Amino acid sequence: MKKLYGVLGNPIEHSLSPLIHNDAFKRNGIEGDYLPFLVEEDALEKAVNGLKAIGAGGFNITVPFKESVIPYMDALDPFAKEVGAVNTAVIKDGVITGYNTDGPGFVKSLAPLIDYQFSGKKVLVIGGGGAARGIYCAMAKTEAGRVDIANRTLSAAHKIVSDCHNGKPSDVLSLADAEKSLSKYDIIIQTTSVGLSSLDESPISLLGIKEKTVVCDIIYNPLKTKFLREAEDNGAIIQTGVDMFVHQAALAFELWTGISPDCERMRELVLEKLG
Ligand code: ATR
Repeated sequence: MKKLYGVLGNPIEHSLSPLIHNDAFKRNGIEGDYLPFLVEEDALEKAVNGLKAIGAGGFNITVPFKESVIPYMDALDPFAKEVGAVNTAVIKDGVITGYNTDGPGFVKSLAPLIDYQFSGKKVLVIGGGGAARGIYCAMAKTEAGRVDIANRTLSAAHKIVSDCHNGKPSDVLSLADAEKSLSKYDIIIQTTSVGLSSLDESPISLLGIKEKTVVCDIIYNPLKTKFLREAEDNGAIIQTGVDMFVHQAALAFELWTGISPDCERMRELVLEKLG
C-alpha cells in the first residue's frame, strides 16, 4: 500500500522537498506520496499524532518547528538530541523517532570540495541559530583541526559550543573579529538568514579571505547571495545551499526507505526549479 510522507512547516508552499522526494520514490519504484503540510503552531502536536495515527512512513519538519516538535517524538537519535533540533521523523511500528540530517547533510555536501580531507582544516561557522547548531555539531565530529563560530549574539554561539563541544579547539568570535581573522580559515560556512531576502546584504565582508578558501552559504534562494559573490570575487571555491538541501533530503530518504537516492538527479531538479 502507498505510504504517506510529507513536510510540516509554516510557510510551506515554496518547499522543494515534495518535488525531489516524489521523484526519488518514482525512480526507485517505491509506493510513496510526499506532501507539504501547512501547520499552525498550536496544531503541531495534532499534526504529528495524526500522521502517526494514519500510518504515515515519516516526515520532515522545517521552519519554525525543528525545535518545538521534539516533545512529540517517542524517541530521539543521539545526534538530534545533542543538536536540539529535528528535521526528519521516521514512523515505524507506531513509534516516531526524530533525527537531524541537516548537519550530516552539510558535511556530506562539503566533503567532495575538500577531497574528503577534513583532517586539520580550520573552519569558521557564521551564525548562532538552529542551522548553525546542526552544522557546528556535525563539523565538530569530523577530523577538522578547529571549528570556530562567529555570531552577532555571542551568548547564542557560546551555548552551541557548550552543548555540542567534543574537545576540539573552538573560539567564539564577534562578526567584526571574525572579519579580521578570515585568512586563517580553510572553510567558511554562512548559516545566518542575512542574504535571504536581499541580494545586497551579507553578515560580513570577505575581503580578507585567502585564495581557494572553501566558502559555503546554506541559503539556496537566492542561489548566489552577496556573501558568495564576494567570496568568488576574492578567489574562493564556493558552494550554494542547494547541495546541503539535497544531502539532508537524501539522508532522510535513506532513513525512510533504506535506499540512497541519486543526489545529482535531486540537484538538477532543484536547480531547474530555481531557474
Ligand atoms: P535558523 O534556524 O535558520 O538558523 P534562526 O534560529 O532564526 O534561523 O537564526 C538566524 C541567525 O541569523 C542567527 O544567527 C541570527 O543572529 P542572532 O543570533 O544574533 O540573532 C542571524 N541574523 C539574523 N539577522 C541578522 C543580522 N541582521 N545580522 C547578523 N546576523 C543576523
